[in-house]
Amino acid sequence: MRILMIGDVVGPGGCQFLRQTLPALKTEYAPDVVVANGENSASGNGLLPVSADFLLDSGVDVITTGNHALKRIQSYEYYDRTPRVLRPLNLHRSAPGQGFYIHDDPRHPLAVISLQGRAFMDPIDNPYDTVDALLDSLDTRCVLIDFHAEATAEKQALAYYLDGRVSAVIGTHTHVQTADARILPQGTAFMCDVGMCGGYDTVIGVDPQNPIAKLRTGLPARFEYPSDQAEYALWAVVIDIDPQTGKAVGISPLCRRGRLA
Ligand SMILES: [Fe+2]
Ligand SMILES: [Fe+2]
Repeated sequence: MRILMIGDVVGPGGCQFLRQTLPALKTEYAPDVVVANGENSASGNGLLPVSADFLLDSGVDVITTGNHALKRIQSYEYYDRTPRVLRPLNLHRSAPGQGFYIHDDPRHPLAVISLQGRAFMDPIDNPYDTVDALLDSLDTRCVLIDFHAEATAEKQALAYYLDGRVSAVIGTHTHVQTADARILPQGTAFMCDVGMCGGYDTVIGVDPQNPIAKLRTGLPARFEYPSDQAEYALWAVVIDIDPQTGKAVGISPLCRRGRLA
């Protein structure tokens, strides 16, 4: 089976660029399932029902998130009633929604898990113990984990820990695609970060001027998205899995650049 996984989709422009880019990617790669990280999809960051529904209507099958999952209180009830929109599995058990979803394609059932790291991030439950408990209860052979974390070493460590037990561990959160896509020795596809879908000449999706001012002065700054005339980019990865074994047989990063139609 083939998965197309898209990194953090940033703001209305990123959502729009995904909508106009995804049909050609589906034609070219024919994925069985499309997964995108939606934690930055809402205007002003976080996820809102309107931004998640826009991504689902654009052809995304499952939405993962991360540290911004619960930023917008309007999303809480939406998570509860939309099982294919995930918040991190290792949030406290009282969090709304679910941290995993079984994409029940009759030929290729796939478990998608949203998991968050802990280095340089807000406190969250132990991702190792949390994912171990879930994997013990799953009988799905093909498993994709979006590991939303800051530190490359933390992502590598979890991927090697799960090598051979899941089909793929794909990092998100930094919004910058890493050049380390590989299949680990026991058959788990891995890359530290798949990248994002958002403005190209930006600092992780926002106009560079305000992050520069904030980092230069230490004073707060309001982040702004690039203009509708700006260039956009969609970074993603195609993962091929042998459905009989659940092991990965291919992993190919990609990038598409263009302007909003
Ligand atoms: Fe993000
Ligand atoms: Fe994040």
